[in-house]
Amino acid sequence: MSITLLRADQVRNLQGVDIQPHPQLNIIYGENASGKTSLLEAIHLLSTARSFRTHRIQHVIQHEKDKLTVFARLQNGPHAHQLGIERSRRKTEIRVDSETVQLTSVLTRHLPLQLITPQVSSLLEQGPKMRRRFLDWGVFHVKHDYLNNWRVFHRVLQQRNAALRQHQPNSQITAWNKALVDAATVITRCRQEYLSGLLPILQNYSQQLIQQQPELGYQQGWPEEEALEKVLSESLMRDRERGHTQYGPHRAELVFKFNGIPAQEVLSRGQTKLFISAMQLAQVSHLARETGTQCVIMIDDLAAELDRNKRKALLDLLLGTRAQVFITLTEPGLLDIDPAQGHKMFHVEQGQVVDRMA
Ligand SMILES: Nc1ncnc2c1ncn2[C@@H]1O[C@H](COP(=O)(O)OP(=O)(O)OP(=O)(O)O)[C@@H](O)[C@H]1O
Ligand SMILES: [Mg+2]
Repeated sequence: MSITLLRADQVRNLQGVDIQPHPQLNIIYGENASGKTSLLEAIHLLSTARSFRTHRIQHVIQHEKDKLTVFARLQNGPHAHQLGIERSRRKTEIRVDSETVQLTSVLTRHLPLQLITPQVSSLLEQGPKMRRRFLDWGVFHVKHDYLNNWRVFHRVLQQRNAALRQHQPNSQITAWNKALVDAATVITRCRQEYLSGLLPILQNYSQQLIQQQPELGYQQGWPEEEALEKVLSESLMRDRERGHTQYGPHRAELVFKFNGIPAQEVLSRGQTKLFISAMQLAQVSHLARETGTQCVIMIDDLAAELDRNKRKALLDLLLGTRAQVFITLTEPGLLDIDPAQGHKMFHVEQGQVVDRMA
């Protein structure tokens, strides 16, 4: 799958962008503040309806304008699709093949996207939420009944938590336990199966990029050897005091270690970026292997933190996935590209994007 046409308007400083990306490699270069990250943000909006920089869409919509628009044509084997999004402060309109759709997940299925930014290290350094999101991205794309179970689980969890906060009788709270446990069991099984398929691929990429392999630990969100049903019953009083459910897959955690030491405590900054790139490359390759689905990979400021050889090593692995790749750089010379490698270069200047090979 690749984006064959991209139009974006009034996404931050972008104005009238209309480009035909290369199916494999796209280099987007330009000075600081020219609009490179904004271009990736536009593509991200098409996959998730959201920005990766802020939750406030009014900060993404161009100053003094009331809406932004992004449109793309995708080619997926013999199938062509059109995705469009228009966002104002109050309204989001999503169109897929000219039909209005309500669910963002429809966009995400059409355009699976991986993004590597200079802030990637937050995936290891911040709390478990980001790592659960990383994990769930993969499970969502590979296991198609996952989303429904995930939705059911969160609906039941919210209802149980509301009952806890409203100090309802015990019977009203425990009445949610069975539905919670049922959905939690499916979620946990899907996540574990997914991780056991992902791990060997991750080991391979990690070996190639940082010459070491991680140990991966998945903590399911409640004591390993115990049944969730029992744990929920035993923790009822504490749940009441806290006003929320403390155990379940919403508390799961992914732990990466090297020789027994947590990754974030042992890796250098460059290694951290390469290791997280390995995690994302592994997801992309695993998805292609399991379902035949090709992703789009975007790397904002690839050169940041990486020496010349590592930039090249990362580029070679990215191209090896056959995914469509968008890379931003402040200067095109920061990356050694084999002239025989099919690619396009786009120059960004003051919100305008120009194809330098056309
Ligand atoms: N809502 C907005 N409306 C108009 N311009 C905006 C808006 N939000 C941010 N900008 C401006 O858009 C410009 C492009 O920002 P962007 O982050 O895309 O630059 P960049 O090319 O990625 O730069 P860098 O190389 O420094 O990362 C900046 O000048 C920024 O101040
Ligand atoms: Mg930027």
